[in-house]
Amino acid sequence: MSRLGRMSGWQRSFVISSMLACSMSGSLYLLGHEFEIQRASFGNRYILATHGIFAIFATLALGSVLSFHLKAGIASKKKWLSGFSQLSFLATLLITGALLYYGPADIRDSVVVTHWVVGLMLFATFVLHTARRIEIFRSQH
Ligand code: HEM
Ligand code: HEM
Repeated sequence: MSRLGRMSGWQRSFVISSMLACSMSGSLYLLGHEFEIQRASFGNRYILATHGIFAIFATLALGSVLSFHLKAGIASKKKWLSGFSQLSFLATLLITGALLYYGPADIRDSVVVTHWVVGLMLFATFVLHTARRIEIFRSQH
């Protein structure tokens, strides 16, 4: 990717921390609420609210990469598989996230399952997509 196409330091930190915080809080709630592991600690309203708030920041982070990073990434012909995959996972998460709030009650159960299965796929893909940068991010802080 050309130097011009690289993210600035603040944007890279913001995108990585919001995506990871959203994925980790969603996964914690999944463990507690769906799989009943440490239900009292992980499956409660506070963890769900934390996830909802981080999801707002993750959406903002997605917005920030849509114009520039996407164009530069596509032009570089690198990381297409993980890039396009996470883009479609995020689109699905936004739609199912909205349906969790405003969708019809009779499809809620399948929306919940679609949301967390795609959520786990996003988590894994995002870590693969940014593995090198997460290492740098860690050693900087
Ligand atoms: C078509 C879609 C995409 C393509 C082709 C793509 C491509 C790339 C490439 C080639 C790099 C490595 C840059 C380098 O090492 O200099 C990269 C890094 C990165 N990508 Fe993507 N990307 C895509 C979508 C996304 C999306 C949707 C996000 C956010 C959710 C994202 C977040 C990041 C981050 C945080 C990095 C590490 C920061 C950096 O290297 O500047 N990418 N991407
Ligand atoms: C940008 C990505 C995401 C967005 C926009 C998003 C959005 C949302 C929203 C709006 C809710 C409903 C919150 C509430 O009822 O107060 C929710 C619930 C949930 N999310 Fe996410 N989420 C995202 C990523 C993830 C990821 C990566 C996971 C990981 C597994 C995940 C797992 C869950 C779970 C388990 C629930 C609870 C569903 C239920 O039983 O009601 N989400 N999400």
